[in-house]
Amino acid sequence: MTSPATAYGQEAPQEYAFNDAHFELLRKLVGKYAGISLNDTKRQLVYGRLARRIRAMNLGGFDEYCELVRDENSDEIENFINAITTNLTSFFRENHHFECLVQQVVPTLLKTNAATRRIRVWSAGCSTGEEPYSIAMALSEALGNTSGWDVKILATDIDSNVVATAAAGIYPANRQQGVSDARLKRFFMPAGGAPGSLRLKDEVRGMIRFAPLNLMEPWPFKGPFDVIFCRNVVIYFDKETQGRLFGRYADVLARHGYLFIGHSETMFGTCTRFDLIGRTTYRLAGMA
Ligand SMILES: C[S@@+](CC[C@H](N)C(=O)[O-])C[C@H]1O[C@@H](n2cnc3c(N)ncnc32)[C@H](O)[C@@H]1O
Repeated sequence: MTSPATAYGQEAPQEYAFNDAHFELLRKLVGKYAGISLNDTKRQLVYGRLARRIRAMNLGGFDEYCELVRDENSDEIENFINAITTNLTSFFRENHHFECLVQQVVPTLLKTNAATRRIRVWSAGCSTGEEPYSIAMALSEALGNTSGWDVKILATDIDSNVVATAAAGIYPANRQQGVSDARLKRFFMPAGGAPGSLRLKDEVRGMIRFAPLNLMEPWPFKGPFDVIFCRNVVIYFDKETQGRLFGRYADVLARHGYLFIGHSETMFGTCTRFDLIGRTTYRLAGMA
């Protein structure tokens, strides 16, 4: 048993031995498999999350776990990445993007897409689904009775657990913050089970297709998307990986399209193919 110092200067007992070599290997593998760049401050997070896997699998410790995930064909890779990802999200998070969607993007698309009457949105790094469902609710409201429009939202994440939660579309009462009473009434229905638990209605669920997808790998589609939400995802990648990903978004975004990124993210210094047109809101260069 090793005993690291805690924030309070005391020794906290650690169940499994965890040394620099374990951390270095695991951080290298997370970078390789998911593009996620873990700095030294993430050491305890890695220990805590993987100790749970070691316990659940009844393994002897980190030596054994490292051997498992070193093999890129191991079944454990999926659980390994699921354990490391950070999935914090909420409904209508960074609400200015949903305001922009309704006030600026939809009016633009009603003109640019008048011939096809199609709108395609991608929520890349959708976590447990609050983001794509917020997009669906905002689009339903904005389009109102503009019937006949074919609106589809693709929602993807590398973490297969969160994709399954998102697809179920059931949220306990404490996860419904950010949704107004009017929206709760219009778009949700009782889910059964825990009191207060609500489920998105089929009208909203039907607009979204959920799928696991590692953004680092080839994408099984070409777009074009009218809007891409990739918020609070690239913060986990290094600058070079961010630049490459932004370039790939430029390739699959329609000429008139929009890209939203997270509040602490920027394209500055990584990619020149977009213009910043609002708060963490981008369009392809020359379209502003
Ligand atoms: C903090 S959540 C953000 C959720 C949502 N976009 C939001 O802003 O509320 C980041 C998500 O990015 C996902 N992610 C991290 N690396 C990824 C990768 N290489 N490919 C796809 N998704 C990834 C994580 O699994 C996690 O669910």
